[in-house]
Order: sequence, then structure tokens, then C-alpha cells
Amino acid sequence: MKKILIVTNWKLNGTKKTIKKLIKKYKKIINKTKNIKIIIAPPLIYLDYTKKKIKKINIELAAQNIDLHLSGAYTGETSIKMLKDIGIKYVIIGHSERKIYHNENNNIIEKKFNLVNDNRLIPILCIGENYTEYKNNQTKKICIQQIKSILKNTKKKLIKKLIIAYEPIWSIGTNKYPKPKEIQKINKYIKSYIYKKYKELHNKTIIQYGGSVNINNFYEIIKQPNVDGTLIGNASLNGKNFVSMIKQIL
Ligand code: 13P
Repeated sequence: MKKILIVTNWKLNGTKKTIKKLIKKYKKIINKTKNIKIIIAPPLIYLDYTKKKIKKINIELAAQNIDLHLSGAYTGETSIKMLKDIGIKYVIIGHSERKIYHNENNNIIEKKFNLVNDNRLIPILCIGENYTEYKNNQTKKICIQQIKSILKNTKKKLIKKLIIAYEPIWSIGTNKYPKPKEIQKINKYIKSYIYKKYKELHNKTIIQYGGSVNINNFYEIIKQPNVDGTLIGNASLNGKNFVSMIKQIL
């Protein structure tokens, strides 16, 4: 059985009360998941709280974002050093919601990616096309362009793991998604590109899929040979459904 990496991106959702309840639900499947690893990305303000709640449970944490700076007069920001300080290992980088609502471009994403990598944390890099690009059969080209531009100056030797989430922009929160076979093709293409271009990343590369993953499509998607995991938003906020979803692959 292949190894599967599930990342749950809670985005701007939750309170201490709902997080406590959700973790209780997650706990039900956690020890049954030998080949499944779960990483939660709660809102930054709840990282520490969530960390306390998952003590002794086999779950790890990711931040949803970091600032470009390490310290200084940058009101409202959180640095990679602060995340390291509280024991966080992963950071989501390049999410399309940050591109859309916070004007993050490839230049900023590249800097953030390298900042995470240089500090020996693990970036979870989101890439993907918009609907017009999808319709025009440009998905492969767009994904590779994004990878090339973001990894061009990365110190490859420092990469502990390369986690890439193929997340078509048009499928995020829309209940629309590519057919599982299409996802398989894209993930396979991305993986072969990375293997060809960066030999040192063999065995270190994980290609996930994200975008409207739900209880009905999860199994079909995850069973594709080149889908190494999923990045789940909305469907990870309902504990009962999330547990039923993961049970499909136990
Ligand atoms: P949804 O699962 O809600 O479509 O969100 C996907 C996503 O953006 C995960 O990062």
C-alpha cells in the first residue's frame, strides 16, 4: 500500500471549541493509519492551541502562511523563526487564495518557498491553472512554468521533502474538479518532470491533489497511482465526514 499524505487546510475557520471537537473526531482514525500521515493547517493564531490538543497523537502541523521578513516593523505578520520556535514543520506556500486576496505573485512565492527551505522546514507548494487555461489544455505547461520559476534558485540539497499540491484554481471551493484520470495524468507529468530535472529529489517528492475533495470523490482520486495525497479544505472541517472519508482507505 502506498504512503498517503493528507493535509487539511482549515483556512479562516474555527474557534477553540470547534478545534477541540474536530481533533476529538480526527483522533478516532489516527492510530489506525499506518501508511497515512495527517497534517493540519489551522489558522496561525490557533497553531499553538492545536499543538497542545494533538499532544501524543500522530498528527503534524502546518502554517498557512509566513511573512517574507524574519523580524522587524511588519505589523500583523508571523515569521518563519516564530513558527520554528513553536515547533511547526510545514508551511503552505503559493495558495491561490493568497494570490487572489493578497496579490502574491511568483516572485513572492519563490522567496517564501526558499525562506522555508533555507530554514529547514518543509514547504507545501500549491500550483495549478485557472479555468481558461484548463479549457485550453494548458495545465501541464502552467504547472511546469510555476515549478520552474519557484524552484530556480532553491538550494536543492537543503530540500528535506518536496511536497507539491496540484490545486486547479477553478476547483477550489467550487465542487468542480478534473476527472480523477486527468488528475492522475497531471500528477504523473509533474512527477516525471521533477525526476528528470532534479535527480536528487527522487524519493523525496510527494504530489498531492487539492480542490473540492469530498467524501464522494476522495477514494477515486486517492486511488490514482500518482496521487500521493490530498490537500483538503472544506471537507476537513466536518469531523464526521472527514473520518468517514479516511476510513475508505484504511
Ligand atoms: P476545498 O477543499 O474547500 O475546495 O479547498 C481546497 C484548498 O484550497 C485546500 O488548500
